[in-house]
Amino acid sequence: MLPEDFLLKKLDERRVQNALRQLKLPEGKVDFCSNDYLGIATNRMIEKASLSGLPHGSMGSRLLAGNYALVEETEKMLADFHAAPAGLIFNSGYDANLGVLSCIPQKGDTVLYDSLCHASIRDGMRLSFARAFSFAHNDMMELERKLKLVADGTCFVVTESVFSMDGDLAPLREMAALCRRFNAHLIVDEAHATGIIGPKGEGLVQELGLQTECFARIHTFGKAVGCHGAIVLGSVLLRDYLINFSRSFIYTTALPPVSVEAIAVAYRLLPLLNETRDRLRRNIILFKNAAIGYQRLDSPTAIQGVVVPGNEEVKKMAVRLQEAGLDVRPILYPTVPKESERLRIVLHAFNTEEEMEKLVSMLR
Ligand SMILES: Cc1ncc(COP(=O)(O)O)c(C=O)c1O
Repeated sequence: MLPEDFLLKKLDERRVQNALRQLKLPEGKVDFCSNDYLGIATNRMIEKASLSGLPHGSMGSRLLAGNYALVEETEKMLADFHAAPAGLIFNSGYDANLGVLSCIPQKGDTVLYDSLCHASIRDGMRLSFARAFSFAHNDMMELERKLKLVADGTCFVVTESVFSMDGDLAPLREMAALCRRFNAHLIVDEAHATGIIGPKGEGLVQELGLQTECFARIHTFGKAVGCHGAIVLGSVLLRDYLINFSRSFIYTTALPPVSVEAIAVAYRLLPLLNETRDRLRRNIILFKNAAIGYQRLDSPTAIQGVVVPGNEEVKKMAVRLQEAGLDVRPILYPTVPKESERLRIVLHAFNTEEEMEKLVSMLR
């Protein structure tokens, strides 16, 4: 075997920063960590709603042998649910963002993106020949300045509706107004709003009635929907374009029917989960109102950041919570800036009062 010191060197750098990532198996702790906000996956709601024994096998790319009626019917159903003309299912949210941002903005075009946008958005932009500039998180003055000063060619503005690390919301109304004023195309990643925000969990865009102002919306199924995959919503033209040019759609094996059926079942459940969404809301309020001894990020959502500066310190704190049976994970530098290392606490509808009380008491 050839020596692999070049790998070791990079891993050692991580070790020195106290930021080495390792996989962990579940240990049956109280879940303050997963994206299963409503408990659809935890409570096996999809299985209980009866799956019909469709194939687990997949036959190829959607453009070859991998397309089938159920996936197209599900795309139509989801597009209707989200009040969009059309939708295209991707194998994951990562693939969807990569696919959209790598193939739509062209050389000479401009992408303006929130500085806290997800890695999949950044990776998509890196594959595009367009110029990309970030604006400070949720800073509409800076976005306006950049729309005036640096935007050239066709311009795209990209944001998450609920930010995955900080849990706060994008000022979508102001953003949509700026996009209108400067003829920019708005792209919104609704990963952490899907299933949660809006009367039936339609997302923040629809809650604000902005669906016709968006060029593209990305809804992922791996969070509250409790499944796997994502849909890109937009015009029929956008769907046709992605089928032709989006490499993360074209050059990959389609999701198997059993996965697509699970997505359809979960989406049929979403309108029925008002009580579950209420329970999640109650837990969010309970946590936000509780006195704790740390600075917290200002978030109205299930994602609550508690700042414990320093990789060493935040890791120690997470170990203490883990030892008490609470699955809370630390977010370390370089994932977040130095001094804003944090516990990323994810609240769920199914977290009980006792679990919430235990969590809060350990943060006092
Ligand atoms: C904002 C955001 N977009 C996209 C993704 C990727 O979605 P998926 O896990 O389905 O690949 C995530 C999840 O990590 C996310 O938080």
